[in-house]
Amino acid sequence: MKKLILLPALLATLAAFAANPKITQAHKDRAAALVAKMTVEEKIDLISGKVDGFMTHAIPRLGIPSVRMADGPQGVRNVDGRNIQSTFYPCGMSAAASWNREAVWKMGAGIGSAAKAHGVQIMLGPGVNIYRSALCGRNFEYYGEDPFLAGETAASYIDGIQQQGVMATIKHFALNNQEYDRHGTSSNADERTINEIYFPAFRKAVEKADVAAVMTSYNLVNGMHAAENPWLVKENLRAWGFEGIVMSDWTSTYSTVGFLKGGVDFEMPRNYVSNQEAVKALLENGVVTEADLDDKCQHILQAFAAYGFLDNSLEADPAAEDPAVSRQRAYEVALEGPVLLKNEGNILPLKPGKKPIAVLGPNANVMACGGGSGWVNPEDGKGVTLADGLLHMGKGYKVELLGSPKPEVLTKAAAVVVCLGFDRLSETEGSDRKYTLPGGQDELVESVLKYNENVIVVVNSGGEFDLSRWGEKVKAILLDWYPGQEGGNALAAIISGKVSPSGRLPFTFWGALKSNPAQKWYKAAPQHPSKNRDRYDFTTYGEGVFLGYRGVEHFGVKPLYPFGYGLTYSSFEYADASVVPAGDGFDVSFSVRNVGPVAAKEVAQVYVAPAKAPVLRPAKELKGYDKQLIGKGASQRFTIHLGPDAFRYYDEAAHDWKTVPGEYKILIGSSSADIRLEVPVRVNAGRNHGI
Ligand code: BGC
Repeated sequence: MKKLILLPALLATLAAFAANPKITQAHKDRAAALVAKMTVEEKIDLISGKVDGFMTHAIPRLGIPSVRMADGPQGVRNVDGRNIQSTFYPCGMSAAASWNREAVWKMGAGIGSAAKAHGVQIMLGPGVNIYRSALCGRNFEYYGEDPFLAGETAASYIDGIQQQGVMATIKHFALNNQEYDRHGTSSNADERTINEIYFPAFRKAVEKADVAAVMTSYNLVNGMHAAENPWLVKENLRAWGFEGIVMSDWTSTYSTVGFLKGGVDFEMPRNYVSNQEAVKALLENGVVTEADLDDKCQHILQAFAAYGFLDNSLEADPAAEDPAVSRQRAYEVALEGPVLLKNEGNILPLKPGKKPIAVLGPNANVMACGGGSGWVNPEDGKGVTLADGLLHMGKGYKVELLGSPKPEVLTKAAAVVVCLGFDRLSETEGSDRKYTLPGGQDELVESVLKYNENVIVVVNSGGEFDLSRWGEKVKAILLDWYPGQEGGNALAAIISGKVSPSGRLPFTFWGALKSNPAQKWYKAAPQHPSKNRDRYDFTTYGEGVFLGYRGVEHFGVKPLYPFGYGLTYSSFEYADASVVPAGDGFDVSFSVRNVGPVAAKEVAQVYVAPAKAPVLRPAKELKGYDKQLIGKGASQRFTIHLGPDAFRYYDEAAHDWKTVPGEYKILIGSSSADIRLEVPVRVNAGRNHGI
């Protein structure tokens, strides 16, 4: 009897851990056989989306079905032209701030199962564009400023989705780091900067997670639109071994020949430049050949074959998702992401008591989410708002939700939680946002401070914002990102101390917009005064590889809160570091003891400081991390492997990576500015380093 009950659970677990599909020779052969049977018209049809924008063309004669896509990346946004309700997970920045691969994997798996339940085969996420400035309207969808953290987060998320038999699409390739004038600005950067900072997350998605699809970006890269850029797609992406589908972003193609020759397989959402007439004209005059079309069809069909889209039913399968499991997963990730920036006098966690805790602010009772294609409607249509969560904190807490700052309640309150931040109008795709919080929010904090000094500010945001007017005066600041439909429950667990906060900043919080050295080169306004300009605008990535924390020593600017920083309700001591050769690199081991009052998770970070090199290198770069729950008074051993890529830099002259032999330092710490242990290692050139 017991066996019978366990069997379905076991099968479900096995299904959840099914391998991430890979394209094999058999899939390639099958695709080639289909391509050989296709007419020119069918080939032209297959390489673009259908009129409704999120479907591919079916070719019933050859058994090729219509495949459905949906946004992405924090849930399933839309099906068949309608926004739908689906589990709304924390945003990308929250996932990155979790520094927790397992939690991110679960989120990916949850989104994959939701996609299946809704009949979606290709999810349009994750987004991995690197954070250069607080102003980029889509930072919330992305994974922060560090290529290693972004790559690890992307690989976990992609693996989670794809193990459900649903394709992930990594986007937007590449250098789409601002929303301002996104169709018309060229991101101009040197080859080393692109390879060290902007490519690695995409490359890891290909090499480590076998991502099935890649979406190009709107912008130009060094003068050429991404969707028509053979340097990006053919000379780089394909050279990394990518054999899946490359699609354009929605309406980002600009010419038929550029699209056909550039290496992108799929024009989305439909055939603006790849329609029958335009393509046939170019075939007739010999500018393109049928082989150009064949390449694209081959990529599309071999990926479809690997995912079983040519054999299995693509109907919605509501049984694929268990809503209770999804809700639990959304809650678990929401617990991991929030970053506690400040906690003066250990005001948090709040203790229960007779005096009320007042809650107010524009984001208290709304389901805050960034806007655009990344917006998601919660599965029950409303989700658990921050106020909902706090009102149900239970066990002796008296919580009062205020519509406006009522002096008589504020003066009596034990503490005031002020919920601030952006929303789908103020932080969104298609435009950059302001540095200051919208609509009188600074004034709100100032007026609350007049009546009560125990102010805790909780902020929904995808990045840094201006806290100069009240940052030093309030007692606590919690950066809550867009925490998804379980965000209120997670906040209640953190505020009440049921769970210690454990998120860490995935970017440098400079404290002022102009303290960020990259801001000087960030394009926030047109360079050309005329709107009818006759040439493309551009933004030069003048900070080069010295972006974010990599620029702290280089530019000599000290941030307010450093990359990797975040408080917990406990404290940790690091000891006993050892670095030993292992496999293709080194194993870095050390012990972390929880010396504080409660069990808490610590994110241990391993940075590498370079040996002397022929080029200037950042003082340190993140190359490994791990997050572990450590009981009060307990000690945990961490072991983090560093492969050969932990030491190399990109050599522009050789157009390749290079490792300089010499003495490097392994820096182990709790943030990029809080290094606790330092171990020198000797690295030899070549594969086996040895010490
Ligand atoms: C966005 C993509 C999105 C697509 C489809 C575009 O505007 O840039 O990220 O997947 O729309 O909604």
